[in-house]
Amino acid sequence: MFTFRKIVRVAPRLRHFSTQPRLKTFSIYRWDPDQAEKPTLQDYEVDLDSCGPMILDVLIKIKSEQDSTLTFRRSCREGICGSCAMNINGSNDLACLNSIDQDTDKPTKIYPLPHLAVIKDLVPDLTNFYEQYASVKPYLQKKDLSVKKTENLMSIEDRKSLDGLYDCVLCACCSTSCPSYWWNDDKYLGPAVLQQAYRWIIDSRDEERMSRLAFLNDEWKIGRCHSIMNCTTACPKGLNPGKSIAKIRAMIHHELH
Ligand code: SF4
Ligand code: SF4
Ligand code: FES
Repeated sequence: MFTFRKIVRVAPRLRHFSTQPRLKTFSIYRWDPDQAEKPTLQDYEVDLDSCGPMILDVLIKIKSEQDSTLTFRRSCREGICGSCAMNINGSNDLACLNSIDQDTDKPTKIYPLPHLAVIKDLVPDLTNFYEQYASVKPYLQKKDLSVKKTENLMSIEDRKSLDGLYDCVLCACCSTSCPSYWWNDDKYLGPAVLQQAYRWIIDSRDEERMSRLAFLNDEWKIGRCHSIMNCTTACPKGLNPGKSIAKIRAMIHHELH
C-alpha cells in the first residue's frame, strides 16, 4: 500500500527529475584524414548537471553517449601523463585540469594544440617534438660506465635543484604557445625541450655538462627564444621554462665563451 511516508520520501526525487537540463554547447574541432572534407567545428550539447566538472569529462561523455568517432588523447585524468593537452577557449591546457565554464550562454571552443599537424580531431602530431626531446639526450650520461656499477647517488641539496624541472609532463602546452616555435619548429627546440635539456645540464650526477651546453650553443636551437614568456604563462603545471632557457643562456655565456 502506498503510504504518506513513501510519498514524502519519493517527492524530492520527483522534483529533481522535473528540473530542466543545464545544456551547454561545446564546439569541437573535427577533422578525419579518411574523409575528403575540410576541418569543421561540430557543436555538441551537454547537460552540465550530469557531467563531471572538467573539460576531459565533457569529451569522455560526448564520446560515450553521443559520438564515438570523436578522437582525443587521455590517460591519467589527473594532470600526470600530459596526454590530454589541447586548446580550450584560446588557451593551451590539460583538459583534465581545466574546469568547465559553468555559464551555459557561452559556448566552449576546443581545438587541438596550435601550429602542429593534426592526426585526427584533437590529436596533434608530436613526432617532431619527441625527436627534439631525444636530441638533448634526456638521460644520465657517465664518461666511463665500467668504473662504477652502483647507484648514482646525489645529495639532498642537489636533488632539490631539480624541483620544478623533473615535474614537467611533456604536454607541449608551452612549446605550442611560443610564437618562435610556431614559425621555426624545425630548428628551434622550444621551451619544453630546452627545459628538459637544462634539467640534465644541472644534474650533479651527469658528466656531459659541457657537451650538452655546446650542443645547445646555436643560433637556432636556443637563439630563437625572444624571452616573451608565453611558455611560462601557458604551463598547466606552474613551471617556468622561460627561466630555464635564460639560465642555459647564462651558462653558455660564462662557461663556453
Ligand atoms: S620565452 Fe618566449 S620565445 Fe622563449 S620559449 Fe618562452 S614563449 Fe618562446
Ligand atoms: S614545461 Fe609545463 S607546459 Fe611545458 S611541457 Fe612541461 S608541463 Fe607542459
Ligand atoms: S589525462 Fe593525463 S594529463 Fe590529462
